[in-house]
Amino acid sequence: MKPLFMWAGGKTKLLKDFDPYLPDSFSNYIEPFFGGGAMFTWAYEKNPDASFVINDLNHHIMGIYSSIKEDVDSFLDIVDSLEREYLALAPPTYKVVNKVNGKNKTTWFPHPWGKPDKKLEKSYKLKGNQYNWAELYKIQPSRRTFYFKTRAEYQENLKEWDLTTKSAYLYFLMKTGFNGVWQAKSDRNAETDDNIFNTPCGLMRQTDSIYDRDLVREWSKALQNVEILSGDFTETLEHCSGSTFVYLDPPYRGGFADYNTQKDDEFQERVVEYFNNARDKGAYCLLSNRDLGDGFFEDRKGQNEIVRFDVTYTVGRKKKVENGHEATKATEILMISR
Ligand SMILES: C[S@@+](CC[C@H](N)C(=O)[O-])C[C@H]1O[C@@H](n2cnc3c(N)ncnc32)[C@H](O)[C@@H]1O
Repeated sequence: MKPLFMWAGGKTKLLKDFDPYLPDSFSNYIEPFFGGGAMFTWAYEKNPDASFVINDLNHHIMGIYSSIKEDVDSFLDIVDSLEREYLALAPPTYKVVNKVNGKNKTTWFPHPWGKPDKKLEKSYKLKGNQYNWAELYKIQPSRRTFYFKTRAEYQENLKEWDLTTKSAYLYFLMKTGFNGVWQAKSDRNAETDDNIFNTPCGLMRQTDSIYDRDLVREWSKALQNVEILSGDFTETLEHCSGSTFVYLDPPYRGGFADYNTQKDDEFQERVVEYFNNARDKGAYCLLSNRDLGDGFFEDRKGQNEIVRFDVTYTVGRKKKVENGHEATKATEILMISR
């Protein structure tokens, strides 16, 4: 089973490196910083009969899991009807494949009905860098105007809509938005209620489908035995006991808006404290983070063990160099309870 969506700091690619440190058996699994839940997909496949507790402070995302658990048919109906409307519209670009020296060469051209009409859009600009997308959609129905119209409806109706409707809208937007990522309106972390999905549109080049229905059904089945929470990570500590596997994957140290601040370090210290408390209750714990080279986790590991992995970021975090972009190198750490 794959994660349902891309998530900043998602761990799918690191699972292979973590393999030697994953437990042989457990009957409870707890993931306090869930996001896209890459480790959960491993844990569920390892022991589908375990009991699971998942949590993330981002309640918009946890709402997707809850509605897929409780109301998957209505969830799929809403995503499908948005998808039908969207796929029938023109994308911003279309593709032409030519043979050049015997090889296929793909070129993308602006689509006459799908490309952004910046002048028109400017004339529908509202206060606060907003646009009247409903009107723009009426004048120029394209995937772009549909995306922004749907995003505006989602943002405006969030408080009134039922959980399934708002979660299905959000899922549609995440599947058609830029890079499939969840980006908030403000640049703070997902810690406050005013953080609402605000990702710009993506390339919108899908042909047959924007998402994998079977995967959503698979998740719905998997989630039946899962308690879904949305609060501070510390609230999951009470669920830890013997035969529990806890995977802690907090936002990276130094990745907070308040980079390298005391607040960031205090937060990471609270995570280490949780780790030790869970371990003392008999749980097997793993904690992921990034090594900033100042020995922060080394100094706080106590009796626990730390292993390191060199990683290369190829998406998002690229360093600009003279001839384009260079992938960024970093060191991930994994703390293992001992
Ligand atoms: C690195 S991501 C987790 C990624 C996840 N392991 C995956 O594979 O997709 C960190 C997550 O912590 C969440 N978060 C931030 N502060 C939190 C807190 N105090 N309590 C619970 N979750 C929090 C964020 O919303 C984010 O989803």
